[in-house]
Amino acid sequence: MQTENYERHVWLGLILTVLVVGAIAFAWFTEADRLSAVESKLKQASTMRGRELYVDNCTSCHGTRGEGGLGPALNNKTLLKNASDPVLIMTINAGRPNTTMPAWGQNNGGPLTDEDIRQVVEFLRAWEPTAPEIKTEFKPSAARGATIFAGSCALCHGEDGKGGKVVGPVLNDPARLRNLDDNWYRQTIANGRPAKGMPTWGTVLSPTQIEDLVALVGAWRKGEPVLPETTVAEMLGSAVFSLSQRDAPDALLYLERAKKIAFGPALARFDPIIDQIKKDQLNQALTDLDKLSKDWPIGSEADGKKVYGDACSGCHGADGQGGVGRKLKPNEFIQKSTNAELLQLVLKGREGTAMRAFDGKLSEQQIANAIAYLRAWQK
Ligand code: HEC
Ligand code: HEC
Ligand code: HEC
Repeated sequence: MQTENYERHVWLGLILTVLVVGAIAFAWFTEADRLSAVESKLKQASTMRGRELYVDNCTSCHGTRGEGGLGPALNNKTLLKNASDPVLIMTINAGRPNTTMPAWGQNNGGPLTDEDIRQVVEFLRAWEPTAPEIKTEFKPSAARGATIFAGSCALCHGEDGKGGKVVGPVLNDPARLRNLDDNWYRQTIANGRPAKGMPTWGTVLSPTQIEDLVALVGAWRKGEPVLPETTVAEMLGSAVFSLSQRDAPDALLYLERAKKIAFGPALARFDPIIDQIKKDQLNQALTDLDKLSKDWPIGSEADGKKVYGDACSGCHGADGQGGVGRKLKPNEFIQKSTNAELLQLVLKGREGTAMRAFDGKLSEQQIANAIAYLRAWQK
C-alpha cells in the first residue's frame, strides 16, 4: 500500500498560516502607528490654532513668547507645572476679577469658545518642556506705602507722619527713625499697641502692604520726600473742587503737589495759575485751572506709538482697525472725549467688557502718550 506523503502540504499550510498571522499582526501594529501619527497631526493642528488665538488675544499683556508684560509670564515652568489643564481653562474662561485679566469664555461674555480655550491651553503646554523657572518678585514701594499711609495712618499720625493736632506720635522724625530698624517698625505696625490706641494692622493690611509701609519709613529715615501714588489728574480735580469752594490754601497744596509729578507741555500752565491764586485772582484762576484739568494729560505722540503697540494693539489692532476691542482709527468716542475723560477710561476700564483697567499697569504719562497717538489718528 502506498502511503501518501502529506508532509509538503503540512509545511505549506504552516507557512501560509504564519504569513497570514504575520500580515495581520503587521497591519495591527502599523495601524497603531498610523493612528498615533494622525492623532499627533491633529494635535499639532490644534496647537497651531491655539498659537494663532494666543497671538491675536494674549500677546498684548503676556508677551509674544509668554515672557509677560502687563500680565504675568505664562512661559514659566513653575506656573505650568502647578496649574492643571482644568485650572488654566477656568482661569482663561472666567478671567481674574478686579485685574486686567479679561474673561475670555463666551459664557462669561468673552469671545472664545470652549474649544478655542482648550487649544490655547494646548499651545501653552507646548512651552512647558523648555519653560524657564520664574519666581515672581515683590518689590516694596515707598510711593505705594505713602498712599496706604494717607488712607489709614495720617488720621492719627498727621500728613506725611509729621504729627500735629492728632492722637498719634510723630513718625517722620529722622532722629528716632535712625535708632530703630526696619524690623522694629514691621513688628510695631503689624502688632500695634491696642491698649494705647495704636491698632493691630497685621489683621487689616496684607504682608505686602506692611512691607510698602516699611519702605516708606525707610525713605523717611533717609530724609527723602515721598508722595502718595495719586495721579496729576486726581490732584487737579481736587484743586478745582477746593478753588470752587474758595479754599485757596488747599487748592495751592494740590497744585504744588501735582506740579511735582506733572510732565509734558501742560506743565508750563501750572505756575501762572499758582501766581493767580497767590494774588487772589480766584475767578481767573478757576477758569484756567478748570481748562487745564480738562486738557490734562498732554503726552507725546511719538512715545505713544510704543505704548499702543505693547498694551492696546492686541485688542484694537496694530493700525487701530479693531478686533476684540473697537476700531479706534477713526473713532467718534475719542473725538467727543477730553483727554481727562480718555485717561479715566484707560485707568478704570469699562466694567463688564474686555476693556480693562490699566491703573497700576501703565503710568499716567504712558497713557497720556497713548492718547496723543490715538488723537493723531482722528485728524
Ligand atoms: C489686558 C491684559 C491681559 C490680556 C489681554 C490677557 N491677560 Fe491673562 N492675565 C492678565 C493679568 C493682569 C493676569 C494676572 C491676574 C492676577 O493678578 O491674578 C493674568 C493672568 C493670567 C493667567 C494666570 C497666570 C497665573 O500666574 O496664575 C493665565 C493662565 C492667563 N492670564 C492666560 C491668558 C490668556 C490665554 C490670554 C489670551 C486668551 C490672556 N491671558 C490675555 C492680563 C491679561
Ligand atoms: C487710631 C489712631 C491710630 C492710627 C489709625 C494709627 N496709629 Fe500708629 N500709633 C497710634 C498711637 C496712639 C501710638 C502711640 C502708642 C504708644 O503710646 O505706645 C502709635 C504708635 C505708632 C508707632 C510707634 C511709634 C514710635 O515711635 O514708638 C508706629 C511705627 C505707628 N504707630 C505706625 C502706624 C502706621 C504705619 C499706621 C497706619 C497703618 C498707624 N500707625 C495708624 C495711633 C494710631
Ligand atoms: C483686552 C482687550 C483690550 C485691550 C488690551 C485694550 N482695550 Fe480698549 N477696548 C476694548 C473693548 C472690548 C472695548 C469696547 C468696550 C465696550 O464694549 O464698550 C474697548 C474700548 C476702548 C475705547 C472706547 C472706544 C469706544 O468707541 O467706545 C478706547 C478709547 C480704548 N478702548 C482705548 C484703549 C487703549 C488706549 C488701550 C491700551 C492702553 C486699550 N484700549 C486696550 C478692549 C481692549
